[in-house]
Amino acid sequence: MATPSHSASHSASASLTAEPSHGLGGRVQVPGDKSISHRALIFGALAVGETRISGLLEGEDVLATAETMRRLGADVTRLGEGAWSVHGVGTGGLREPEEPLDFGNSGTGARLVMGLVAGHPITATFIGDASLSRRPMGRVISPLTQMGAHFHAREGGRMPLTLTGARRALPISYRLPVASAQVKSAILLAALNTPGITTVIEATPTRDHTERMLKAFGAEITTETGKDGALAISLTGEPELRPCPIVVPGDPSSAAFPVVAALLTPGSEIVVEGITLNPHRAGLYATLIEMGGDIEVMNQRDEGGEPVADLRVRSSRLKGIDVPPDRAASMIDEYPVLAVAASFAEGTTRMSGIHELRVKESDRIAATASGLRANGIKVHESEDGMVVEGRAGEVSGGGHVMTHMDHRIAMSFLVMGFAAQKPVTVDDASMIATSFPDFIGLMRGLGASFTGQAQ
Ligand code: S3P
Repeated sequence: MATPSHSASHSASASLTAEPSHGLGGRVQVPGDKSISHRALIFGALAVGETRISGLLEGEDVLATAETMRRLGADVTRLGEGAWSVHGVGTGGLREPEEPLDFGNSGTGARLVMGLVAGHPITATFIGDASLSRRPMGRVISPLTQMGAHFHAREGGRMPLTLTGARRALPISYRLPVASAQVKSAILLAALNTPGITTVIEATPTRDHTERMLKAFGAEITTETGKDGALAISLTGEPELRPCPIVVPGDPSSAAFPVVAALLTPGSEIVVEGITLNPHRAGLYATLIEMGGDIEVMNQRDEGGEPVADLRVRSSRLKGIDVPPDRAASMIDEYPVLAVAASFAEGTTRMSGIHELRVKESDRIAATASGLRANGIKVHESEDGMVVEGRAGEVSGGGHVMTHMDHRIAMSFLVMGFAAQKPVTVDDASMIATSFPDFIGLMRGLGASFTGQAQ
């Protein structure tokens, strides 16, 4: 099959420049969590009756999942800003889509829905943009094939691919070869329409939003720690999922950008309200605090089954540290912005155990290292790590950074521009709309300024 020249629409590529700032201030709410938003739509589509969602992230990635759920037979309606209603079809009730399912830039949407379709006797074609069409799908193809699904994929297990789900799927016990919540979730989604008990074993715990939401929707799911410390997550198939209202908390991966911007830009003090500090997502915040970041965790509470807090952040002098590799899963999307923070720190920051960064929306180790070099930072890149030589607050900036269709590379280097001596330009800011559509407006509200085509 050929790679499509383009898929889900987003605005034409446009460069954007972040200007040095004199201090950021104010209170903000970041958009809803991306992982929880995808799952809310998917579980809503499987429950019988109406699921009401508030605080849904209305970024391109999640909107692609909403459209997919419609094509698979659910009734998905936007009621107002972040407020959505989903009438589901029941486990096993998905309809075969007439058109290919287009996931745009979203690996999470594509992989989770592959799990969903694998447990239904229907055929669907999965397409996405150039970045998604380069990403490895073998990691989901392999377990889902064991469960009885059939895949016809491009060489190397890439999209576009066509998937025919199992008529009667088989339960499996599967040890994850990579620490991936997407793969874990794909198997659990297939297991919903599979008789018997399916078990996923993970040596390193990854984000557990799927498990939390399955419980809330009434599925029987248990997590046990084995003698070797690995987690065994077991789901009893064919439950009747009950609709459950979902309040989506703020996304800690999106909050990372204003938080790091405030830490690095002298004279800043901001509050970011209502983000989830689920322990499997909060690694960046622990790391920044260890580096000397002044981050106060306030008003801790439980909202919709997730731990939530507000963060007060003041500009700080950071020092370089060795980031423990076993923390990688809890901050996997935050390494590019951590590397930017490390450039401003005094001393060296070593990051290891991050090979997975090579297969994200871009090769994030390569993209981050070349962005840092373009701005005068010394960085050593290895197969599964990065070592950044901090410049104790004196970052020259002035670079032009290639984002490689990666929203987090774009936002990380714009953050660098607010705190560097000279402006920093990214070649293409359009992908920011996949996860943080109002990034520019929110940062401007805090006092940041931008120039360029995309503003
Ligand atoms: C996600 C899991 C992570 C993360 C991605 C969202 C999820 O990917 O990078 O942004 O929602 O399950 P992997 O599971 O592939 O590590």
